[in-house]
Order: sequence, then structure tokens, then C-alpha cells
Amino acid sequence: MSTPARQRATAFAPASVGNVAIGFDIMGFSVDALGDRVTVSVRDTPGVEILATRGVADELPREPRNNTAGRAVLALLEALRPGFGFSIEIDKGIPLGSGLGGSAASAVGAVVAANALLPQPAGPLELLKFALAGEAVASGGRHADNIAASLFGGLVLTVGIDHPRVKQIPVPAGVRAVIVHPHMFLATARARAILKGSVELSDFVWQTANLAGFISGCYTSDLDMIRASLEDVVIEPQRAALIPGFHDVRRGAMEAGALGCSISGAGPTMFALSTDATAPAVLAAMRREFARQSLATDEWVVEMRPTGARVIG
Ligand code: HSE
Repeated sequence: MSTPARQRATAFAPASVGNVAIGFDIMGFSVDALGDRVTVSVRDTPGVEILATRGVADELPREPRNNTAGRAVLALLEALRPGFGFSIEIDKGIPLGSGLGGSAASAVGAVVAANALLPQPAGPLELLKFALAGEAVASGGRHADNIAASLFGGLVLTVGIDHPRVKQIPVPAGVRAVIVHPHMFLATARARAILKGSVELSDFVWQTANLAGFISGCYTSDLDMIRASLEDVVIEPQRAALIPGFHDVRRGAMEAGALGCSISGAGPTMFALSTDATAPAVLAAMRREFARQSLATDEWVVEMRPTGARVIG
């Protein structure tokens, strides 16, 4: 057994918006306004135990293999074999089934905290792979959009799964993300299960152009290009019916001056990008349309700063 670097660490992992409309499963941005805190302690016995789950979602599975944080830390232990085990406590700040990357944040927070205890810590791309194993428990698929955004921070593109390459994309000055979370639950696995397995060629071309246009718009601070390309013509039409008032919320945001508006991850949270000046009107319109559906909301206006998960104690 090697000697742990320390006995206990707590990490904060931010929430995230997956897909960002046109980057299904490959792009996301972090939302530092809320997140999960995960505390990991060394234990002599190998393996993982979940000691406690608290916060806005306290009924998470306690069996490590069925828990996103537990499964991620098991993946870390299986790969690195430090000779000791870990106990995990999870303080959820992200509601379950909100589309704000809650399962990813728990997995990311757990591996970042566990890593701080290792005598020879793993690098960020290894942590990404361990956290991916955790995310798969909740969503039924391996996708890095929320994981990479929460781990690295900012607007993040991931290419590849087994050998991922991660790029933090610059966000033009003054661009804000408006995030509106209606108080309802939507299981990611359900929102994935309804998706068709194939894409029309014309939609493939359109979506590819939109992703390329959005990323080039970000690199060149071309807001007109971002406005023209931030439109999901593949996934959003299939999921819109899962979110009450989706079309009205989107229309309200666009009429208020948003650069684009779509579903955050698998939903039901919706996000819009806008300039700093129009963000309050965009937020008000989105809130108003959800209220017309009798849905109360939580809202945030955030910058997409490249600050990801970190050890806080
Ligand atoms: N990319 C994922 C999806 C995010 O849209 O299903 C949710 O975990």
C-alpha cells in the first residue's frame, strides 16, 4: 500500500450545459453559479463506500457501482491501484433530472477529490476518462460534454472518447449565458431513448455547418455568425415536446434579442446566449413563458469562465 498524500479532500465541481444546441454529446459549458461538493476520505479497506448523500438530491444510490461518483472512483482505483480505498460524501447542489449536468458534476467532483489523495496524482485527461465511467451510470451512454465542461471549465469541445482531446473555446467578450431551470424532473435516459438512430443527410449538412459556424464565430468574436449558427436542427426537434412551453420560451428569448436559445443537455432546463445588455430581457421572457405553463423557475446569468472543478478543502 502506498502512502496517501493526505487523508481527506473536498472538491467543488460546477454544473454545466451540455450540447450547447449544436454540439450533441461533444460540447458543453460550465455554470459556476451552482455545483456539487464531494468529500473523499482514505480508508484502509480497498474499494469504495458511499457514506452520505445530502443537499438538493439526498436519495442517490448508495451502492458504489450504481452511483455516478462511486462508479467514477471505482474506475480510478481499478486503473491506478493505490492500495487503499475511499469513502465518499456527496453534497448535491444540482437538482437531479434538471439537465444541468448533475451526474457529471458528482463524478467529476469525486475523481478530483480522490486524485488529491493519491501520492502520484493522475492527469486531467485520465480523470476525464474515470468520470466518464461514472456519467454512464446515469445517462446510459458515454459522452463527455458535461464531464469535460465541469472538469476543465468554460466552453469545452471534446473529440474522441477512448482517447479524448479537449479544447477550451474562447467566448467573445460580453457574451453571457442565461439559464432557466423549470421545476420539473426529466430523466436523461428517457430523453436519450426517444432519439432516432439516424439523421437525414440535409440535416447532417445543416448541423455540421452550424457547429462549424458557431465555433468559428467564437474564435473571431463574430456575434452575427453565432446568431446565424446557434440552432439545433437534429436533437432539439425530437426533444421539444418533453418540455412544456418549449417553443414559446425559445421564441420569447429570441424576440428579446438572444443570439440563440435551446435545451440545456437533455432538459428540461433551457439556456440562451446573449449579450450582457440583453441578458435581463432574455431571462425575463424565458421566465414569463415557463410561468405561463405554471412552472416556477430558478435562473442564472453567467459568464462562461474557464474555471473548472477544484479542491476547496
Ligand atoms: N449530451 C447529453 C444529452 C447530455 O443530450 O443526452 C445529457 O447528459
